[in-house]
Amino acid sequence: MEIRDAVAEDAEAACQMLRRSILELCVADHRNDPDILALWLGNKTPDCFNAWRTQAGSSLLVAVEHGCILAVGAVTDAGRITLNYVSPDARFRGVTRAMVGALEARAVERGSTRLTLASTKTARRFYRAHGYTEDGPAVGECGAASGYPMSKPVVARAAR
Ligand SMILES: CC(C)(COP(=O)(O)OP(=O)(O)OC[C@H]1O[C@@H](n2cnc3c(N)ncnc32)[C@H](O)[C@@H]1OP(=O)(O)O)[C@@H](O)C(=O)NCCC(=O)NCCS
Repeated sequence: MEIRDAVAEDAEAACQMLRRSILELCVADHRNDPDILALWLGNKTPDCFNAWRTQAGSSLLVAVEHGCILAVGAVTDAGRITLNYVSPDARFRGVTRAMVGALEARAVERGSTRLTLASTKTARRFYRAHGYTEDGPAVGECGAASGYPMSKPVVARAAR
């Protein structure tokens, strides 16, 4: 599996994967509520994907294996993880762990010393197990569902 910066040609397949990840894996968050789903899925389109891809101060990464997109993640240079979804076909195979590692590394490279995010209910246990701590009560983020603010300090590599 390779984790690399997204390119325009990834947009269609990445958005299909993002939509499946939300629909199939994040039921604890959206509870199949059509209003929440409409808002959450509404920006998972190739146009939005390409806008995120070219956004200054942010990186959009994809995990790819045998030509299939297994995960999509995004992080700002300030260390905010804004997107992190795995394909239902690749769940619990270490793909999100690898993606979060790549997002953290990119943020550190850009000078961040702290990663922040708003977790789904679905991913909370994952983030806790990977060194993130809760920063307070849930807020209205993460698509349309609530998000749980979490963060983790990261160590910048010593200058060479
Ligand atoms: C929960 C989720 C994030 C885990 O990612 P993954 O790629 O499937 O799994 P990985 O193999 O990388 O990580 C496994 C870890 O997930 C956690 N995990 C295991 N089972 C879990 C479960 N049933 N529910 C939640 N977390 C679980 C554990 O911490 C596990 O670590 P361990 O193997 O050392 O025990 C992913 O399956 C998921 O549901 N993603 C949906 C999208 C989402 O909510 N994204 C976050 C947006 S903020």
